[in-house]
Amino acid sequence: MGSQNYLSILMALFLCSCYSHTSAQNLPYKAVNLGNWLVTEGWMKPSLFDGIVNKDLLDGTQVQLKSTKLQKFLVAENGGGDNVLANRDSASGWETFRIWRVSDSTFNFRVFSKQFIGFDSGNKLVATSNSPSNPETFQIIKNRSDPNKIRIKASNGLFLQAKSETVVSADYHGPTNWEDNDPSVFLMTIVKTLQGEYQITNGYGPQRAPQVMQDHWNTYITEEDFKFMSANGLTAVRIPVGWWIAHDPNPPKPFVGGSLAALDSAFTWAQNHGMKVIVDLHAVQGSQNGNDHSGARDGYTEWGDSYIPDTVAVIDFLAQRYGNKPSLGGIGLMSGPTLGPNLDSLKKYYQQAHAAVRKHSETAYVIMSNPLDHGSKELLSFFGGFNRVVIDVHYYNLYSDEFNNMNVQQNIDYIYNQRASDLSGVTTTNGPLSFVGEWTAEWAVRGASTEDYQRFAKCVIYGDYMTGEWTAEWAVRGPSMEDYQRFAKAQLEVYSRATFGWAYWVYKCQDDHWSLKWMIENGYIKL
Ligand SMILES: *[C@@H]1O[C@H](CO)[C@@H](O)[C@H](O)[C@H]1NC(C)=O
Repeated sequence: MGSQNYLSILMALFLCSCYSHTSAQNLPYKAVNLGNWLVTEGWMKPSLFDGIVNKDLLDGTQVQLKSTKLQKFLVAENGGGDNVLANRDSASGWETFRIWRVSDSTFNFRVFSKQFIGFDSGNKLVATSNSPSNPETFQIIKNRSDPNKIRIKASNGLFLQAKSETVVSADYHGPTNWEDNDPSVFLMTIVKTLQGEYQITNGYGPQRAPQVMQDHWNTYITEEDFKFMSANGLTAVRIPVGWWIAHDPNPPKPFVGGSLAALDSAFTWAQNHGMKVIVDLHAVQGSQNGNDHSGARDGYTEWGDSYIPDTVAVIDFLAQRYGNKPSLGGIGLMSGPTLGPNLDSLKKYYQQAHAAVRKHSETAYVIMSNPLDHGSKELLSFFGGFNRVVIDVHYYNLYSDEFNNMNVQQNIDYIYNQRASDLSGVTTTNGPLSFVGEWTAEWAVRGASTEDYQRFAKCVIYGDYMTGEWTAEWAVRGPSMEDYQRFAKAQLEVYSRATFGWAYWVYKCQDDHWSLKWMIENGYIKL
């Protein structure tokens, strides 16, 4: 070996150690999620949906239908695979139907056991088909002055009618005066909605969705935001992406192309402002948790073994494109899976997806969500088997009854005690790094509850306060600015112990306390 070669090896070693030194200095990250940018979540900006015709009837909307004549709910007998009847006094699972939107005014109805409502050769209503076609496609006609009152027209041109509790059929001819005794009139109650990427793109449809989404991507996050984030002490962004990004510019309908170019821009902006990008696969094909942000069509969680190859291919695509970019912070394999019994599929997927990243990069961090209860350590040793792996945990003092009755101080104590202990449980020396990939300073602490008012009123009545006039109104209000500041500070203190870092949910949101931008601008949070 000539001295030339020695020199270049030395150079390479020198560069390598420098490089790893620089990247090590970046940890732990102070990051923020760019949620609702490349994966839509309607609650953060509902106005994005305003231009959709029948925007209350998006994919996944759950409806219950009551015959005004019989005053009974329609039911898919046995949850599906059987007749549709009109004999239920109250409605729950079997009486609730999930909409698939075919056009602005035509829909399929998916029942509890996942079949679709349609009519058979005798025009009788049944829920037996596993894939919707013409007999399963219905037009919903709303009464314009009372939009909960509807008629439902079948593809044979006739209206549905509840003839009796045991006979519902698609054979009503003629117009209506919308009287309650008309068997073709139904009251529709919406019990749940979904507002994710599937809903917005299919809602606008192939003609309008590409422009609406492009305008959103161009304006929601710009380089100005990276300037702001970097100036305020943030060192990374976590960007939720959907599986369809791997099929850009022509993803399967209803998704539309263009999110890949936006992600490319984010890498450029991050580079310009000294930040890192954590790419997070947030919506996987089949849906990993049924939520808006999982790209679900109707809220069923169907991800499993059969989806592994396609999902690994998405990671492979992302790793190939970004794996060696200097501003890559890591690749998240799947956000927030609630797969329960599918734990084995998840492990299999993590293994293959990690290998897919390693095909393109030896050093990129691979981020795996801890799918179980927040305190769970079941997968710790599994995670420990990979190199440069990060465990992603999400900490919200929300979404669980345990937080509903906590006051301000109890919430703060919970952070210093429970969360600190949960986090140290997944933070090991020489093991995977830990990452609080989502948290927020919003919480379940609210103003006075009904029960608080009742207790206050009772106390006045039975206390020594009898005066001529009194009221149950009082000065109790929601949490103060200082309460929010203390809650945020507690979390920053504790989550700073995560070895990979943390990421606030979310950068921009119409609800102020969820928006880190707003919280920084208004002095609630200082990094
Ligand atoms: C809506 O229903 C009411 C009866 O509930 C009826 O009087 C009215 O004409 C209907 N409106 C339209 C626009 O069909």
